[in-house]
Amino acid sequence: MSENINSHFLSNPDAEGYYGRFGGNYYPPELRSALQELANSHKELHKSPEFQATLDKVRVGLQGRPTPIHHLENISTQVGGAQIFVKREDLNHTGAHKINHCVGFALLAKRMGKKKLIAETGAGQHGVALATAAAYFGLECEVHMGEVDIKKQSSNVGRMQLLGARVVSVSTGQSALKDASDSAFHAYAEQHKHALYAIGSAIGPHPFPMIVRDFQGVVGREARKQFISMADGSLPDHVVACVAGGSNAMGIYTGFIDEPGVILHAVEPMGTSDKLGQHAATLSYGKPGTLHGAQSIMLQKDDGTPASVSSIASGLAYPGVGPEIAMLHEAGRLSIAGISDEEVVNTFYRMAKFEGIIPALESAHALAFAIRLAAQRPASERILVNLSGRGDKDVDYVLEKYKLDENGCVLAAA
Ligand SMILES: Cc1ncc(COP(=O)(O)O)c(C=O)c1O
Repeated sequence: MSENINSHFLSNPDAEGYYGRFGGNYYPPELRSALQELANSHKELHKSPEFQATLDKVRVGLQGRPTPIHHLENISTQVGGAQIFVKREDLNHTGAHKINHCVGFALLAKRMGKKKLIAETGAGQHGVALATAAAYFGLECEVHMGEVDIKKQSSNVGRMQLLGARVVSVSTGQSALKDASDSAFHAYAEQHKHALYAIGSAIGPHPFPMIVRDFQGVVGREARKQFISMADGSLPDHVVACVAGGSNAMGIYTGFIDEPGVILHAVEPMGTSDKLGQHAATLSYGKPGTLHGAQSIMLQKDDGTPASVSSIASGLAYPGVGPEIAMLHEAGRLSIAGISDEEVVNTFYRMAKFEGIIPALESAHALAFAIRLAAQRPASERILVNLSGRGDKDVDYVLEKYKLDENGCVLAAA
């Protein structure tokens, strides 16, 4: 099995920043030059040996890479079908995959002579990861976060502040991730001369989706090599990731996207029902539209504005997806599944009890689907899940809101 990847990335995005008909740059003209400067710097620096050597050093020492692949033997045995493996991105320093692109952005900012990093955050994972990278590289950091998420993820707010970041509370709209993104982009438009926007996912105008994907690609490249050597030269049959904007998904897909024999699964939050406003299942129910400066697929109201969304996982409560995910979906390369809040809580408890791993609620979507899939597939098949983050941030919330009955079923939220 070759370790060479990936022809997909040679042609995506195109010179204008498009992935098929998705992507592009729909931001106000005053940001055009800043985004061009960023695209040029990334192109020049990203592949330079000095930049890569510094990044590799940080990935090993600060982040704790490489992260292992681990076999969920107990749950796989219980299910009695396909075998489930996880790429342990929850073992990254700060507890999630987000730091993979945060250290990349911080190093880019440093080399570009910027003094500050700006970002939005939902669950707080991206904010903590960015504050960490900013502290390490000696940069200022400003994180925009919805008021609702600030209350739900208070421990992450404290961590960001401890790391020296300023947390800006956003109380417009639903006071959640989309509103935090609007607010952060606004701040970037005002400060772009000395600040770099370190976006939280593979979304936004070109070149952000490409930069995030390139830095997150370390997950897929590592996972591919690890899987090949662990599984006597073969690849997984299925690769599974939860999807909001698509950073952890594009990260793990990087290793397998050019392998038609590997099914790529994108798992969306079905929330509490399939009614608009009660889920955030963009690929299942969205339509083409423009959100945060790019053409993509989004959940929208009749007038074309972004719809309200809901998910137990703050980091998945976003009414859009990144343009590359939209393109892969339209090309039929992705298999789409939805997982409800209740299934997520069940999986959260099950992973803790039987595997000794407390997953982030976001990652529990991917795990819940993998368990469902394993039950339908033969024992000879292997499923690789991106376990994108750990669930320490979610423990208080879940214990307070959800209880299990004696059969291990989730009782209704309190
Ligand atoms: C642990 C974790 N996984 C997944 C996500 C979803 O984001 P993305 O689709 O960019 O991976 C988030 C977002 O906050 C997260 O914190």
